[in-house]
Amino acid sequence: MESISSLLQEHRIFNPSKEFSQNANIGSMESYASMRQIANLDPLTHWNEQANKIHWFSKWETILDWKYPHAQWFKEGYTNAAFNCLDIHKNTPTMQKTALLWEREDGLRQSLTYEELHSKVCLLANALKSIGIVKGNVITIYMGMNPEAIIAMLACARIGAVHNVVFGGFSSDALRDRINDSSSVCIITQNATLRRGASIPLLTSVEQAVKECPTVQSIICKDAINIESPLIQDWDTILLNQNDICEAEHLESEHPLFFLYTSGSTGKPKGLVHTTGGYLTHVRYSFEMVFDPKPNDIYFCSADIGWITGHSYVVYGPLMHGMTILIYEGALNHPHPGRIWELIASYGATILYTAPTAIRSFMGVGNHIPEQYALDSLRLLGTVGEPINPEAWMWYHEVIGKSRCPIVDTWWQTETGGIMIAPVPGAVPTKPGTATLPLPGILADVIKKNGESCQENEGGYLTITYPWPGMARTIFGDGERYKSVYWSEFPPNELHQGMYFTGDGARKDEDGYFWIMGRVDDVVNVSGHRLGTAEIESALVSHPAIAEAAVVARPDEIKGNVLIAFVTVIQQKDMDLSTLENELKQHVAKEIGALAKPEEIRFTSSLPKTRSGKIMRRLLRELVSHGTISGDTTTLEDFSALEQLRPDEE
Ligand code: WT7
Repeated sequence: MESISSLLQEHRIFNPSKEFSQNANIGSMESYASMRQIANLDPLTHWNEQANKIHWFSKWETILDWKYPHAQWFKEGYTNAAFNCLDIHKNTPTMQKTALLWEREDGLRQSLTYEELHSKVCLLANALKSIGIVKGNVITIYMGMNPEAIIAMLACARIGAVHNVVFGGFSSDALRDRINDSSSVCIITQNATLRRGASIPLLTSVEQAVKECPTVQSIICKDAINIESPLIQDWDTILLNQNDICEAEHLESEHPLFFLYTSGSTGKPKGLVHTTGGYLTHVRYSFEMVFDPKPNDIYFCSADIGWITGHSYVVYGPLMHGMTILIYEGALNHPHPGRIWELIASYGATILYTAPTAIRSFMGVGNHIPEQYALDSLRLLGTVGEPINPEAWMWYHEVIGKSRCPIVDTWWQTETGGIMIAPVPGAVPTKPGTATLPLPGILADVIKKNGESCQENEGGYLTITYPWPGMARTIFGDGERYKSVYWSEFPPNELHQGMYFTGDGARKDEDGYFWIMGRVDDVVNVSGHRLGTAEIESALVSHPAIAEAAVVARPDEIKGNVLIAFVTVIQQKDMDLSTLENELKQHVAKEIGALAKPEEIRFTSSLPKTRSGKIMRRLLRELVSHGTISGDTTTLEDFSALEQLRPDEE
């Protein structure tokens, strides 16, 4: 972890304002510290208490059953996620409150109360039953960011079907692979979603994908037009004759709530399995701790439901707390650069939760843009997805938060289910660039390869040293991979029962604050999206002109990282490299999605390799970051001289 020593130490400290702390759930460092001490000494009692705050049809006997590397939380208990988001508000004023405020890029708006949302979820749940969906079936949801997508997730949860949301920006090939890997029997989609003024035809991608998806028996499509396939049913038509009463299924705590695919260091995405009771407990608790919800909040999280943030902190966390949730379908800077601030001002949003990459791009267009809007409704700001650089943090704090709003930098992962490291805003002082401390009950450490804890400010591997309820239970269909990726780096020994390896590098400062240094594996964060370089490499080599490919990240001011691909070509006569470069970018977009397109493709006659033939990505990373080789993208770079010289390093 070479970058650590070069890091400047950050000394600015921001204490929570008196005003914020006075109204906060946890309003002082003393009460926070005592809660944390109690929870960390006895995490099981802590999680037992937290589990009692969600609704159960019947209670558990065992808090945690841990058989390395598999956890079961509250295993004898029965609960339901949709019930916890909707039915628990029955006979309270929340039922008449707005649950969802939706706006689309073109200005179309809709709002739904909790009662209306409840009724729509029941209609769809009954429709799913009517087409033969039963508990345990997997349903892929491929939609834009709209109320129907949330209704679809909750309808699945209500009847015990497992939802598998695939981000609408993924290509039909990527969709096909995720449908097949998850053995989905049904797909819920919509005709098209809107982004940057363009209509993105989701149904067309689904139709393309299902040609090679033998398990799919039905497709439900919102706004379907010109239906030709007998598989497809129109959303509105199928809901027409349904009853809006649908009992929530009583589900075992460990019943899978959803699968969510994410990238790893091999070419094959991992379908992480999240279950019900523990996940809800962790998400309800962390939402309360980090966002300090208030009844009048208008909560705006800009994440898409295709990502874990959309699951935990657009849908489940906020709905369990009866929040009014603002969702937006489209690009946050379209049709004008101030679109996000316009939304906040017009709805009076009080909490904004977004990604550093978005903040950096808003920062880049100049302060005069946000300054045109009244942002004084905001009281709390959050970030997630990647490390936030202190400059962007300060800008967010001063220009958006007017130095009034605490910033919660939240570290977590698809695998963790919920937030793990973040300040509790009424209590914990913040420093620009650190997610601060693990939430009470979460035990984290920075350790060396040999398993020992690092010294203060010494870089090492971020690990979670004790199970937690929101943790992914396995990788669907691949328990071995789950064990080897996350639990084999630090297997059980006489001191602990196995530690979870996050894949991130970190250091702990003199206050015990965690500074995340980024990934230590071949996973890259581009604009807050997680991509495996191996996935992109395999997409590139599937092009007939490409022999070998190596993809590395280059740091980028706005996106955090961009991808640079080195490729060797299978010689073809009269090949125009700039045409090929464009073709390859399109090819990656087709195989995975536009989000995975390399920024630059460099053609080379060979790739630098170790003696055993491993591509030396470290060398390529140095090259793209420090630019020892310059020139246009069409120059052939010759690594042949290096080829035989390098010992095995990686
Ligand atoms: C990876 C997880 C958690 C939802 C969104 C991303 C990076 C995430 C932070 C943060 C520094 C962060 C890590 C992590 N990351 N949040 N606050 N500070 N890095 O979920 O796609 O599963 O990616 O994102 O590298 O391992 P994900």
